[in-house]
Amino acid sequence: MKLPASGRAAGKVILLGEHVVVYARPALAAGLARGLEVRVQRGEGPLELETDVPALAADARPVALVREAAGALGIAADGLRVVVRSDLPAGAGLGSSAALSVAVLRALAAAAGRHLVLADELALGRRLEAIFHGNPSGIDPAAAVLGGCFRFTRGEPPMVTPLRVSRPLPLVVAFSGRGRSTGAVVAGLRARWEGDRAVYERRFDEVAGLVAEGAAAVESGDVAGLGRAFDENQRLLEALGVSAPEVESLVATARSAGAFGAKLTGGGGGGAIIAVAPEPERVALALRKTGAQTMVALIGASEEEAA
Ligand code: MEV
Repeated sequence: MKLPASGRAAGKVILLGEHVVVYARPALAAGLARGLEVRVQRGEGPLELETDVPALAADARPVALVREAAGALGIAADGLRVVVRSDLPAGAGLGSSAALSVAVLRALAAAAGRHLVLADELALGRRLEAIFHGNPSGIDPAAAVLGGCFRFTRGEPPMVTPLRVSRPLPLVVAFSGRGRSTGAVVAGLRARWEGDRAVYERRFDEVAGLVAEGAAAVESGDVAGLGRAFDENQRLLEALGVSAPEVESLVATARSAGAFGAKLTGGGGGGAIIAVAPEPERVALALRKTGAQTMVALIGASEEEAA
């Protein structure tokens, strides 16, 4: 074993299509400059995990994840000390579980002197993310692995198409501070879908139409058009029952501060929202005044800016 070893992976925002992507509809996502780093050192005795993320420290799943990743790579987890440092809020819908999965894989593969090809990172990342929620589409580990802006459709293997961002997308991400469980929101939608498949399948198809419009807007630099797709997607996310009052209030604040459009991002149920805006700092300020944490990201620029 080559110790110490480390691995890093990106956080993500889903621009359009969260939840319907679980049902094999396409979605758009982008990697964030912010991410998560895992360092593997020699420890003593059983596997130890140390983290600066309080929600992960109180959770048994990260240790299970490291054990499963080590098993998949054919190495022993006991005798290792794993240190996790993150600049992503946990439970916000910004892909911290997938970033953890991919960064753990990369760090353990480096320790084992193995090089994982892209297809292995995607497949193993999705298998590990399933420890956090039961039926992942794989879009979050794809963002953690690839970064950039891409269209994704689940499958074995998934279909991942990078998007050409002709004009950097000025995004504001805001987080109410109340974390939530993606697994619970995904399971709730599944129960509703099982109760009325025809209605839900129609809504899923409507979102797929917006994803096609949004991809065209990203590629042609039509930032206002992308905003309209955000608003329509939010309306459908509410109809799917995965939104929450605090998310809707952040969305309303972003719109009245001049955003072209705003919606929840990721699992929903109270996590983060994204807005696309001509003056993102003005929107971020209005959101911070409500007590939200914010981040401004210029998606598609060579260096994203975080604030
Ligand atoms: C979570 O970031 C995105 C969801 O669509 C779940 C998934 O795709 O696995 C809600």
